[in-house]
Parts: sequence; structure tokens; C-alpha cells
Amino acid sequence: MENKISNVRLTQMVTSAGCAAKIFPHILSDALKGINWPTNENVLVGFDGKDDAGVYKINDELALIHTTDFFTPVVDDPYTYGQIAATNALSDVYAMGGTPINALNILAFPQKEDISIIKDILSGGADKVKEANCVIIGGHSVDITNILYGLAVTGKIHPKDIKGNDGAKQGDVLILTKGLGTGVLNNMVKFSELNDNIYNGLISSMTRLNKNASECMVRANANACTDVTGFGLAGHSMQLAKASNVNLVFDANKLPVLDGALNAVDNNFLTRGDKSNREYTKDFYSSKGTIKKVIEHLIFDPQTSGGLLISVPEKNAENLLIDLKNNGDEKACLVGYVDVLNDCTKGTIILEY
Ligand code: CO
Ligand code: CO
Repeated sequence: MENKISNVRLTQMVTSAGCAAKIFPHILSDALKGINWPTNENVLVGFDGKDDAGVYKINDELALIHTTDFFTPVVDDPYTYGQIAATNALSDVYAMGGTPINALNILAFPQKEDISIIKDILSGGADKVKEANCVIIGGHSVDITNILYGLAVTGKIHPKDIKGNDGAKQGDVLILTKGLGTGVLNNMVKFSELNDNIYNGLISSMTRLNKNASECMVRANANACTDVTGFGLAGHSMQLAKASNVNLVFDANKLPVLDGALNAVDNNFLTRGDKSNREYTKDFYSSKGTIKKVIEHLIFDPQTSGGLLISVPEKNAENLLIDLKNNGDEKACLVGYVDVLNDCTKGTIILEY
């Protein structure tokens, strides 16, 4: 789609971009400590597990999944930005194995700017929500100096079918469905230039719904799942490892990487999230063997609209990979395994718990 605001670059109107703009996890967890969150027996997934979304039981057959995500522009084109933000917001429902049913817009925009930008952002979001067979039934907007867009999404699921981050078991293998590197590549978009092939690869990854990945994951009887977003592969893996009480052992050589991402790391387009995600995971991360520094940066790189990390019984993994790839998740690959032990082979990354 043509960019109607050739003289305005969305990424230049904001201070930090996408999921890289998250509040640092240690600051957030300090702030959340000690608050008495209201809860009741219908809360199936709440604050405790640091899971992707909250789940609330309506009856024995039906639970609702609730999640919200919004962020500042990662690209200059408003329509594409809307698509990316919506894809990212829907993702937490997919990570739980659920089906999105409706959504609300969340928008912040400086109204002194060209108002047609708003229409383009919301159109991008609306088109993605439609692709998800979901509907938009309202929203909320504010006039402030920064731009923010995203959704609050409601999904549905059978209470027995919830794929939390606490179910990973020894004997499972780990599958990651999208390439890593959106943080460094988005940073390069903001401060420099990407060639067309690399830019298009980045955009098609960030605007790809995790819908197929989720449906495949459910068909394969996965034990646990999460999506990889602002805390990076390392941070979201740590949350899954802690919740499941296991170690996750990654093979650094097998991690899927977006085209151009290694080059972006080499050219030092690291985000501030690289540092804060290292800080967040430092007590639960160790590496064995000779791991290239560039690859290591990518496991801490904050992802915007990243893929699913799936923990699945080893016997189901081959069919799951075929299923994923047949339906368009081309970058999906087996990246490691679940272990309760600390021993690991050369060239692997281990997240210890
Ligand atoms: Co998530
Ligand atoms: Co989220």
C-alpha cells in the first residue's frame, strides 16, 4: 500500500519502537510486587504464571482468553504498522491454543498531525483481524504526542485445552515458528535503510498471523506454548522453563534467523532490550561450547510479532514440522529439547532453572 504521508516518517515521531519499548522487566516486576490483585475461582490463568494471556472460566465447556498489546510504530507506513500491531496483539490468544472472537482498538495519536494516518493504521489492524476471522466491536483513543496502536483481544477455548507455559515435559522437543531478529532489523529501519528483499521478509514475518502455527500446535498435542515477543527468545523461554520446572536446551546452530538480521547485529543495531533481556535472564542463562556472539545477540533481541515456541512430545515433532511448513510457516524448525538435567552437548544454549 502506498504511503500517503511521504514527508512524515512514523518511526521518527516516537522515541522507541515496537516490543523493544516494553518497560524493563525488573522495573515492572518491582512495581507489581505486593499489589493485592482481585481474583476468584474462575480465574484459570492469572498474574501468577507470567503466561501470555489471562483465562477466565465461564462454565465447564467454555473459558475466555483476554489479552492486550499495543506499541509505538516500528515502520513508517501506517497501514503496515496497523497490520503488525494487530498481528502481535492477536498472538497471545494463539499462544494459548485459543480462537480470537472479538477485539477492541487502542489508539493514541497527536491529532495536530495528518488525520488520514489514523484511518490507515486502523485499516491495517481491521484487515488483520478479519483475516483471523475475528471482529472489532469498539475501542478507545487519546490525543497525546506519542503514537500507540494495538488491540485488546478476547478469545475462546475449552477449559481443558488451554496450552499454558507450565506444561513442558522431559522428552519434549522445542519448535520455533518464526525467524529471530525483528528488534535489530526494526532498529535498522528507524536509523538506516534495509534493502527491499530484507525489508519485505521482515514485514511478511511480522504480519503473519500465528493462527496456523497455533492450529498445528493444537493438532500435535503440544504440552506447552508461548509466543516470543518483547523479552526475546531468552526471556520467554525462561518464563516457560520456570513455570514448567524444566531446563530448555537450545542448539545455537539451529535457530531460525530472518534475512539480514546477522548483518544488523554486526552493524550494531542492537536495541536497549538486548541489555535488559540479558539482565532479566542472567541467573537462568548459560552457554556451553563456542557460540557466535551474533547468534547470542539474537536470543536476547526483543521480537515484535514473533513466532510460537512450542514444547511438543518428540514423537509428534516431525509431523508438526511438516504441518507447519505445508501451511506457510516456512521458517519453523526444531531448535532444542526439554531436559531436567544440566548436561548438554557442545554448541548449545541452555536456560537453567
Ligand atoms: Co505472549
Ligand atoms: Co503480550
